[in-house]
Amino acid sequence: MKLAVVGVTGLVGSVMLKVLEEYGYETVDLVPVASSRSVGKTIDYFGKPRKIVSVEDAIAMKPEVAVFSAGASASLQYAPQFAAVGTFVIDNSSAWRMHDHVPLVVPEINANTITKDTKIIANPNCSTIQMVMALAPLHSAYTVKRLVISTYQSVTGTGVAAVKQLHDEIAGRDAVQVYPYPIHKNLFPHGGTFNEDGYTTEEQKLVDETRKILSSPAMRITSTVVRVPVTGGHSEAVNIEFERDFDLKDVVRLLNDFPGIIVYDDPKNNKYPMPLLSEGKNDTFVGRIRRDFSNPNSLNLWVVSDNLRKGAATNAIQIVEYLVKNQLITLNNNSL
Ligand SMILES: NC(=O)c1ccc[n+]([C@@H]2O[C@H](COP(=O)([O-])OP(=O)(O)OC[C@H]3O[C@@H](n4cnc5c(N)ncnc54)[C@H](OP(=O)(O)O)[C@@H]3O)[C@@H](O)[C@H]2O)c1
Repeated sequence: MKLAVVGVTGLVGSVMLKVLEEYGYETVDLVPVASSRSVGKTIDYFGKPRKIVSVEDAIAMKPEVAVFSAGASASLQYAPQFAAVGTFVIDNSSAWRMHDHVPLVVPEINANTITKDTKIIANPNCSTIQMVMALAPLHSAYTVKRLVISTYQSVTGTGVAAVKQLHDEIAGRDAVQVYPYPIHKNLFPHGGTFNEDGYTTEEQKLVDETRKILSSPAMRITSTVVRVPVTGGHSEAVNIEFERDFDLKDVVRLLNDFPGIIVYDDPKNNKYPMPLLSEGKNDTFVGRIRRDFSNPNSLNLWVVSDNLRKGAATNAIQIVEYLVKNQLITLNNNSL
């Protein structure tokens, strides 16, 4: 299989290569792609150097799959060009997520929305993926009526330049500011840009994408996105009101049984999910599972996951696996 990784030098792109290596895609014909700044440089894949090519050259190679993590404008411009030469595009940006004919996929939940006519598949926003992973089994059992979400998002969610800002500030060096303020010793209730209604684009993504993935256009959702000076993953406090009442033991069982979820909840022994725990792991961790006594049928959860893994690269590679397993991509060798 010829597989293009567009944005290979970025935070998501580099984790994408790691995840591909871990999944054993050694004989895949990797096409590393980045901007003109990087064309001609090399990246290592399974210990061997591979030359980075331009998007145009990659399109000419007609790969079976192109996984994009190069920002929304690159996706808007180039995804249709890949699709036109028969490539399946899996896009990590926000460019295509809310298009009617583009499936927005978390494989454990709604891979069945991919059809043989699909050409562009959208990977949801990182904070949405980890939250819907925890919600999906509970929504099936009790039907979510309303969500109140507060996120505590890692700087790795903003890319290489944001991590550099944090590290430079910690080291006391002059930092190029990606954020409007210093992030070291600070946090701000601001992710993306502000809309006219006072919410940010990151907050609106949580609302729109959750409704689309869970096929619940009327689900009542409100969110506050906060950027915090950590690097290992996003954390989320999620308050859920259900249509029906629940048994707390059943909630824990449903979460435990859901693939990709690890319940890590032993507060008496100070065990709860944290970015330090999630970093480098593919799972979504759920803890602080407790009834909200202030409202009927309501529950509080704390959900943590590595945004570069399940929030981006791992989810995308799981979609590739789904395409292969369901013979939506035809392979011309035994590379997998
Ligand atoms: N970080 C996350 O947790 C996360 C999670 C989900 C989705 N995403 C999405 O994934 C995308 C990338 O995020 P990131 O954090 O990896 O960003 P990043 O670290 O800033 O990396 C951006 C990558 O895109 C490449 N690129 C930029 N413009 C390009 C162009 N016109 N043509 C080809 N390549 C181009 C860059 O190449 P050069 O090195 O050559 O500049 C680099 O490889 C964004 O759309 C983001 O919203 C990120």
